[in-house]
Amino acid sequence: MAVIFSGIQPSGIITLGNYLGALKQFVELQDEHECYFCIVNQHAITVPQDPKALRENTRTLAALYLAVGLDPQKITLFIQSEVPAHTQLGWIMECTVHIGELERMTQFKDKSVSQKEGISGGLLTYPALMAADILLYNTDFVPVGEDQKQHLEITRDMAQRFNNRYGEIFKIPEIKVPKQGARVMSLQEPNKKMSKSDEDSNSFISMLDEPKVIEKKIKRAQTDSEASVHFDKENKPGISNLMSIYSACTGKSLEEITTLYKGKGYGDFKKDLAQVVVETIRPIQERYNNLINSSELDDVLNKGAEKANKAATQMLTRVEKAMGLKR
Ligand code: AQP
Repeated sequence: MAVIFSGIQPSGIITLGNYLGALKQFVELQDEHECYFCIVNQHAITVPQDPKALRENTRTLAALYLAVGLDPQKITLFIQSEVPAHTQLGWIMECTVHIGELERMTQFKDKSVSQKEGISGGLLTYPALMAADILLYNTDFVPVGEDQKQHLEITRDMAQRFNNRYGEIFKIPEIKVPKQGARVMSLQEPNKKMSKSDEDSNSFISMLDEPKVIEKKIKRAQTDSEASVHFDKENKPGISNLMSIYSACTGKSLEEITTLYKGKGYGDFKKDLAQVVVETIRPIQERYNNLINSSELDDVLNKGAEKANKAATQMLTRVEKAMGLKR
């Protein structure tokens, strides 16, 4: 079976963007692949995190991974800091990547602007750790949103460079981006992607938002003055983003949605979209509420760490042998 690896940061409560861009595909892939899903808490600390919030967000994310429909019998779910091989190979990848390559990453450029307490070294070297995450598991495919394309490309470059120097150790992974929902944009600034750590909570829909809050946020979402529901990403980014969300949640094409709302205003469309989003999230929240305080969650994470440690240590040993780091 082909191997899948993907990770999500517990840097807040995951958004509808994280769900449509990443988690939804995970569920579709779990039957036909060997899946490793990781809560990448060591990536989250590249920007300051409150320890209590980080611990809670980690547990919340673990529960949401299962609540979206991932079956712990089929997948391996684990916390990055519980598998030390990630940071061990991360260092090796730091010694493989070039500084110029890291400085070109748009996520580094975007995130470094908003750092008030100084920019951590980890924010720059993040892609080296991400490459290690992926390469440890002989990964064939990495299902992610479009924003991670650049990080996947640099992972492939690192793997190739390492293989050229030390022999064919790493498999070169491929990216897997969904057809709809690959890049969900902010509800307030539709030219910027929706992010769970955005300071403006009206810019994102959290997977744990109550129905009333979802309705309010969608009602307040930025659109334009034309009042015609059709897709035009460049000139109508707000309504185009809302249409993409509608499409990703319902499976309806953009053309079908345009036809459905011909002659209707944004008010009608937004009301229906709010319903669509509420109905998408409702069953997930129900399962989440049953899981969050259960010991089942700890069992899944313990078993996941055990299995991931086994696989990751094997790969790390091969790498260290090839490099002359082992006696
Ligand atoms: N807006 C988005 N649309 C589609 N997919 C998205 N993803 C993130 N935002 C969107 C995908 O979600 C997965 C997990 O992302 P992450 O938590 O590892 O980091 P991120 O991409 O930086 O996500 P956020 O929400 O923007 O986090 P913060 O605010 O902490 O930076 C990835 O597959 C990503 O592509």
